[in-house]
Amino acid sequence: MTQVADWAGSNPIKENRSRLIGKAVDRYEGPLKVSGTAAYAHEVVPPSPPAYGVMVPSTIARGRILSVDLAAARAAPGVALAWSHFDVPEQAPRNVMLNFFQPLTTPAFEFDRVSYWGEQVAFVVADTLENATAAAALVKVDYEIEAPEVTFDPIGDEGEHPPGESDVQVGDFAAAFAAAPVRVDAVWRTPPQNHCTMEPCATTAWWEGDKLTVHASVQLVRKTQHGLAETLKIPPENVHLLTRYIGGGFGAKASWYEDLTLAALASREIGRPVKVAFTRQQMMHGTIHRPATRLHARLGATPDGKLTAMSLITQTHLGRVGNFVERGSNFSRPLYSAPNRLTGHRIFHLDLPVAGAMRAPGEGSGTLAFECAMDELAEKLGIDPLELRVINEPEVNPEDGRPFSSRQLTRCLREGAERFGWDKRVSVPGRVRDGRWTLGLGMATAIRGSSLLPAKASFTVDAEGVITVKQGMTDIGTGTYTVLGQIAAETMGVPLKSVRVEIGDSELPPAPGSGGQFGAATAGSACFEAGMNLRKAIVEIAVADPASPLYGGPSENVTFQDGIVAISNRSETIAELIRRNRPDGLTVEGEIKPAEDSGKWSTQTYGAHFVEVGIDTVTGEVRVRRMLGVFAAGRILNYKTARSQLTGGMIWGVGSALTEGNAFDPRYGSFINQDMAAYLVPVQADIGELDAIMLDEEDEKANPMGIKGVGELGISGAGAAVANAIYNACGVRVRDYPITPDKVLAGLMALGK
Ligand code: MOS
Repeated sequence: MTQVADWAGSNPIKENRSRLIGKAVDRYEGPLKVSGTAAYAHEVVPPSPPAYGVMVPSTIARGRILSVDLAAARAAPGVALAWSHFDVPEQAPRNVMLNFFQPLTTPAFEFDRVSYWGEQVAFVVADTLENATAAAALVKVDYEIEAPEVTFDPIGDEGEHPPGESDVQVGDFAAAFAAAPVRVDAVWRTPPQNHCTMEPCATTAWWEGDKLTVHASVQLVRKTQHGLAETLKIPPENVHLLTRYIGGGFGAKASWYEDLTLAALASREIGRPVKVAFTRQQMMHGTIHRPATRLHARLGATPDGKLTAMSLITQTHLGRVGNFVERGSNFSRPLYSAPNRLTGHRIFHLDLPVAGAMRAPGEGSGTLAFECAMDELAEKLGIDPLELRVINEPEVNPEDGRPFSSRQLTRCLREGAERFGWDKRVSVPGRVRDGRWTLGLGMATAIRGSSLLPAKASFTVDAEGVITVKQGMTDIGTGTYTVLGQIAAETMGVPLKSVRVEIGDSELPPAPGSGGQFGAATAGSACFEAGMNLRKAIVEIAVADPASPLYGGPSENVTFQDGIVAISNRSETIAELIRRNRPDGLTVEGEIKPAEDSGKWSTQTYGAHFVEVGIDTVTGEVRVRRMLGVFAAGRILNYKTARSQLTGGMIWGVGSALTEGNAFDPRYGSFINQDMAAYLVPVQADIGELDAIMLDEEDEKANPMGIKGVGELGISGAGAAVANAIYNACGVRVRDYPITPDKVLAGLMALGK
């Protein structure tokens, strides 16, 4: 168990007296957002009028920059400076990112080489955005062009292993697979996908002496602050990084980019604030994307449905820079029992934009193959696909024998089946018609890891009895502000209106930020600890204060409710107590770290997706008519924001199944679709009935509050459930995502329909 503050005569979260934890509380910052008054990074008003920077991306994928002619840009109206590789100020060299949490320096224009199409190669700052944009168009770059290698199309399972990684083999997969009476052996392909955050990456920066203030749109406060400081070769404490509101992250902003570096450098150079933003088109190439994969799934089973062999090999591409690997096979390791197992990854270095983490990296791609392979196996066996999952439900982690901290997959499957009407599914494809539409049902499992990282938080109580939560945490649209407010209110026994939440600031107690669905568990646990410590401090003050009705104790009988501290019928308000004893307020910190024994358990979140599709047999168009997800993901802090996370992930699953994908232009290594008119994200009209339900769960092994996470679980398996429903509707298996109408139609024609 992780550490719990030792004064815990009672656990306010467990008691949940005011029933705030789990409740569908409205967003704390909602009114600011819907009224347009929440200032995002590019909208922050700096202390003096800003200048505007515009970046110039490369128009080749590979080659050398021979010269950059900035003369015309520099002579253009309003221009304050123009830079390229040849005259950018000195910065630290680029780090190799050794792990997710290490700061990464991002020097701008470091090399005279171009590593991918759309890499930033020049930068212009002017008095207005219009002047900067016009001047940027005058920059002339002369390249020595080399033929890029941009085709990712492996034939077999070949490829390099990621550094330091080999395949995981349990038992003898090859022999068991060869001997299995019933087998599936197929290959799926997924295209590159783009995060398409509503708010592009953007920065507003200014200097006061040698101190830099930078408002940026990033998921990780500390890491970005340190990375920027390292890049600029200044002490981290000289960088004050703020990120109050973030218009979507999804992994895109767990890295950070030239907008920060160039805004900081330019502002120092010209002595005034500078704003730099990516355009939508620049976001596509100049940040990161989910790379394409080739996924080879093999399953072997006995006629009664017991898996005897399973394998998933993921191949994917990396750019020449960056070393993120889409580990599409990892999630399959704890998923189903099978004595013989083989999983691993292969990488291809190509002259493509930098691959990176996108919502549920790994699961987002891998489930699109593996959960369809399970569907194909079920059909061959003549077993219901849901029952096939239940038959292969493991007692312990099938890879390493560790017990599960909690695992309610079967309950998710059963509960979902009942609510969705899974028993009405006709197992023979193409039997249910609605006019020219053919209908089908599909399901798939969702799984995603859960973790907790070290974090701190502070709680301040003031003389009005208001609790202020402070934490260097982020809210990327997930509901962080709201759930931290709920935790503060519940631990301190005060109404929500007596809580303030301050996050997104590098000067606040550090927390890792948002990513890997660790945010709620990590930030929430630290806040719980801060709350328990503040309770303890308040009790100590009360029982030692002769003016307090609580004077003399007993300490262990103090209760906190409705802003009142009491020992049975002796009571006063927290405000009165603090006004007398700490008129300037009282601040207490809390801290959480993973328990020493946290590795003893296999900790995941789970779910089951159910989908009904209709397919237009004339056009091949797929419409999602109904979709239900049932999830078990630890204690749910806020039913509304959690449901929104889950349904958002499910909708993204629909996108990955049906519409999303960046096509590479083989000549240039650029994405052909570079905006949201051509990169199709599902919209309201694409989604029919949709719901997400959360089962009761407290994962006692996970952390003191039993929280896991839901930020990435919803997308895991959602697209596979859509693909499986398509098969059930019309008998067509498309293993090349996205499943666009032309592919469905070709399949129907091949079947003679
Ligand atoms: Mo994430 S894709 O770990 O922000």
